[in-house]
Amino acid sequence: MTEQSAPAAAPVVLPPAVQAFDRTAPAFDARFGSWLSVAAQRRAFRRHLDRCFKPGDTVLDLGGGTGEDALYLARRGVRVCLTDGSPQMLARAGEKVRDAGLESWVHTRWLLLERIGEFVEEWTARGLPRFAGAYSNFAALNCIPDPALVARELARLLAPGAPVVLAIFGPCSAGEMLLALARGDWRTAFRRFRHGPVEARLSGAEFAVWYHRPWTLARRWRPYFRLEAVRGLGVFIPPSAAEPGISRWPKVVAALERLDRLAERPLALLGDHVLLRFRRTDWS
Ligand SMILES: C[S@@+](CC[C@H](N)C(=O)[O-])C[C@H]1O[C@@H](n2cnc3c(N)ncnc32)[C@H](O)[C@@H]1O
Repeated sequence: MTEQSAPAAAPVVLPPAVQAFDRTAPAFDARFGSWLSVAAQRRAFRRHLDRCFKPGDTVLDLGGGTGEDALYLARRGVRVCLTDGSPQMLARAGEKVRDAGLESWVHTRWLLLERIGEFVEEWTARGLPRFAGAYSNFAALNCIPDPALVARELARLLAPGAPVVLAIFGPCSAGEMLLALARGDWRTAFRRFRHGPVEARLSGAEFAVWYHRPWTLARRWRPYFRLEAVRGLGVFIPPSAAEPGISRWPKVVAALERLDRLAERPLALLGDHVLLRFRRTDWS
């Protein structure tokens, strides 16, 4: 998997969320990669990647960004087709893949989630094999209004029994609410309860996110995917709103990470992110 695909038929205008990530791409790792809260939530996500994927598998990453998880899997012998809608995020991922000498393990591919159907058409028309599974970390699916369309198309790329691991924004992040209320910011405190698009901002660019209810997403992913597990990521580990301050307290973050391990199941819906682990059914 050495080919680094460029946007074949890129739309003239990328969706606002993708534009925002495109602008952030050069600084993305320096900013978020150094935050201990992000690293702790990522470790929790990776426990599920380790559980689902084994050396020799080829898996699909949706909204893979700069490739942190793809590189992690590649170093464990898992091949990854890393997709993202942001050309700049993909460029950064490609650089990291080359620097790590993992070009034959990670293939980067431009893909807008809204246009996943075209990708699936092309993949199947070329007679390429189905993936052993798929994943999407850190809320890429919150950047589109209807993740059900992804389920329908993704199902065509996976054999029955294949796992899918998603991390989406939690519907009621206790940490975010507490921090926002302490700052008197009522709007942020309750924004995750809103239906429909909610304004977000990154590197000065505005875009919308959708706080999908995990139970609604799981219902809409049926009948193609059976929900196997729901876990909270960042129940006690603080959300990014606590950064960069909280990263000055590594022992505190480590203690909160231990608490997260205890709370991830019973308090899953209070997490900053919620991890949903699915299995492809035999519905076609
Ligand atoms: C918060 S980042 C997470 C990146 C990566 N999964 C990680 O764990 O670091 C969200 C990613 O979703 C991508 N994204 C947002 N909207 C998208 C869309 N409509 N189609 C494809 N990718 C999208 C962004 O470009 C960005 O790379």
